[in-house]
Amino acid sequence: MVKITIDGKLLEVQPHCTILEAASQNGITIPHFCWHPRLSISGNCRICLVEVEKMPKLVIACATQVTEGMVVRTESPGAVKAREAVMEFLLINHPLDCPICDEAGECKLQDYTYKYSFGIGRFDEDKVHKAKRVPWGPNVLFDAERCILCSRCIRFCDEIVQKPQLHFVQRGDRTTIETFPGEELDNPYSMNVIELCPVGALTSRDFRFKARVWEMSSTDTVCPGCARGCNMLMWVRQNEILRLTPRYNPEVNDYWMCDVGRLTTFKFVNAEDRINAPMVRKEGELVQVSWEEAIAKVASELRRFKKSEIAALGSAYATNEDNYLFQKFVKALLNTKHLDYLRHVEVRDEDNLLIRADKTPNSYGAREVGVKPGEGGLAWEGILKGIDEGKIKALYAIDDKIAADPAIGKVLQKLDFLVVHTSNRNQTTDLAKVVLSSSTYAEKHGTFTNFQGRVQRIRPAVATLEQDRALDGFSVSRLDKFASSNDRWARLKKRDARPTWRIILSVANAMGGKFKYNTAEEVFKEIASTVPSFKGLTHQKIGNQGALLVGKAEAAAA
Ligand code: FES
Repeated sequence: MVKITIDGKLLEVQPHCTILEAASQNGITIPHFCWHPRLSISGNCRICLVEVEKMPKLVIACATQVTEGMVVRTESPGAVKAREAVMEFLLINHPLDCPICDEAGECKLQDYTYKYSFGIGRFDEDKVHKAKRVPWGPNVLFDAERCILCSRCIRFCDEIVQKPQLHFVQRGDRTTIETFPGEELDNPYSMNVIELCPVGALTSRDFRFKARVWEMSSTDTVCPGCARGCNMLMWVRQNEILRLTPRYNPEVNDYWMCDVGRLTTFKFVNAEDRINAPMVRKEGELVQVSWEEAIAKVASELRRFKKSEIAALGSAYATNEDNYLFQKFVKALLNTKHLDYLRHVEVRDEDNLLIRADKTPNSYGAREVGVKPGEGGLAWEGILKGIDEGKIKALYAIDDKIAADPAIGKVLQKLDFLVVHTSNRNQTTDLAKVVLSSSTYAEKHGTFTNFQGRVQRIRPAVATLEQDRALDGFSVSRLDKFASSNDRWARLKKRDARPTWRIILSVANAMGGKFKYNTAEEVFKEIASTVPSFKGLTHQKIGNQGALLVGKAEAAAA
């Protein structure tokens, strides 16, 4: 270890680390634009200038290694004056268009202008004008006038994605960034440059001008797009999800997430085809009914069949809590051994960074909590064959699009009774006799287990009528905060969806079960006490960064 002093504080730090790293590890903030912990050091923005005793000039903290006995001053008059000069320099040609910039409210340039600049520009001449609204690729727009040339976006493509697509062109105050001739910024992780950009030069084409940052709430949750389960923030205004951004977790996704995850895993929550209430098929049409009627219908229909004629499908999209209660219900009340879940594997886009071939968030968890055939029971292929041959007559399926494949849909038409839990209309609801409107991952508490065996929490960011009744830990006062005469809000609030585990509880009790759970956390407590690999875990212990299953934690420690 090396002993150094920063702003009068004596610190012991790792040898070879930089002044900026040593400072941030010890809670001392040194401003920085171009430095990022996962990118190479470029040292071009100069905002991190600090004074070091016995050095003739100021040094940049991001590129200067600590040495024994070093004395650093980050707030000396010389360092402060240099920082102010850098800010004045960066703002010379900046358009100062914060009122119409998407980055406003989360912009480093804006923050540092308030914190570190003296607030007056002495530059009277015309600003240099550059290209505006340049589409760099399908997902990112570039505003060259806002760019401070930190090169984070260039280094991200070169070093993290390893697909060089951007470079500097021109010189002096005409310098700008372009895509290589004939190239687009079009890689599976291109949108990470939006958060990496410390100013508003790079914006999302999808989110552009949809909301100001301070109008939205953000909720810690997990991406359901593949088995990695990237940690992310869900941004919501008036009960509508507007964007997803990555949340740092060094064990899972580091600082990144893929474009597919951030663009495709929330639109179905806002979509027009959402199912707003339970439905029962009457004279060939699905008709909205009360929960009581729908549950009673499911219970009475299921009683008509012998246990060998019923099959059940859990889901790799559903939470551990949903799947656990489902398999318990299937074994205890349907008494069938024909239990499985569908795999959704697409090997073609798996890579070494984040994207997994398994396109579901919880296949590991579904298996682990017991969604598998009982002794002598049928797996999915067998169930399908059984339906085709008329041996299986009733199917209970949760939270999956099982009839998306037309060949499977054709076989499912042979069922006497199909009940599904689902959030949106799809090919499966077209065949179902009863549709129970289930909450999406954005509307409930629960956990997913990713491919590493890491259990991670999801939380409600969007309200349903269920949460409005304050049944599931979503405080009414928070809803009231957003309540307005806004039509959209009124319509969304009427969405009568319930978490799958709660629907199962109602069906089980209607069939004579004695299930008693008030929250997803209570279901999880039972999982932790009955499934050995979950032993010792609680929602609290899982926290924001997740926790490994028992066997996995030991393997990681070894
Ligand atoms: Fe050090 Fe940019 S952060 S030069």
